[in-house]
Amino acid sequence: MLFDTHVHLNDSSYENYKDIIDNALKNNVSKMVVVGFDLESSIQAVKIASEYPFVYAAIGIHPSEANTKYDTDLIKLEKLISDKVVAIGEIGLDYHYDGVIKENQSDLFIKQLKLAKKHNLPIIIHSRDACKDTVDILKEYSDCYKKGIMHCYAYSYEIAKELINYGFMFAFGGVVTYKNAKEVKSVVEKLDLKYILLETDAPYLTPTPYRGTRNEPAHIKYVAEEIAKIKGLPIEVVEDETFINACNILDVSREN
Ligand code: NI
Repeated sequence: MLFDTHVHLNDSSYENYKDIIDNALKNNVSKMVVVGFDLESSIQAVKIASEYPFVYAAIGIHPSEANTKYDTDLIKLEKLISDKVVAIGEIGLDYHYDGVIKENQSDLFIKQLKLAKKHNLPIIIHSRDACKDTVDILKEYSDCYKKGIMHCYAYSYEIAKELINYGFMFAFGGVVTYKNAKEVKSVVEKLDLKYILLETDAPYLTPTPYRGTRNEPAHIKYVAEEIAKIKGLPIEVVEDETFINACNILDVSREN
């Protein structure tokens, strides 16, 4: 059984998410978290999760939205919290593209950490080219959360070791299957399997051999396969242990 901890079935590129979920089930993906990136996509994530017992939602505003007037959206976002909302995410910092003011990003990030605290929810972190500031904020506001997921983890093994002390696990997706992703592969090799999660980030980051086409949860087995290869473990071990890890970090039942 596979658990896709990060999928955007709420993305407009899916004309029919029901078909995508059917195909996931056929490919042994038995649980998934639909992750929001703004208010609209968070509403959609909760809607999709409400239709399937094995689909969960994460709600949050992505740092790329930090130049918008997000305060009223945050009030509406909080009203979405229900049993099917298992995390606040994806939230964080993204310095890859210029244009989104860093101070706005930190403010939005910290406000959502406080939201996680208020509702005692885990967090799902998006952090790109912003390692130091992300880690600094996560440390300063560590009373806001007990545990979290570093989504699409691309920083060093040393940073991962530090974040483990703050209750983090690390999600890996299609990138780990790319030939040139040497650092990600070496982090996967060193990191104990008990801290590793699988994700697709679909429709993005499609794993080899489907790179270049639209991603979907059904492709997550290629990520599991690559991690098994890197760690020299049977694929069943990687599938089962990452499944249990995901249920634990998100407080989700292992049953369907
Ligand atoms: Ni994402």
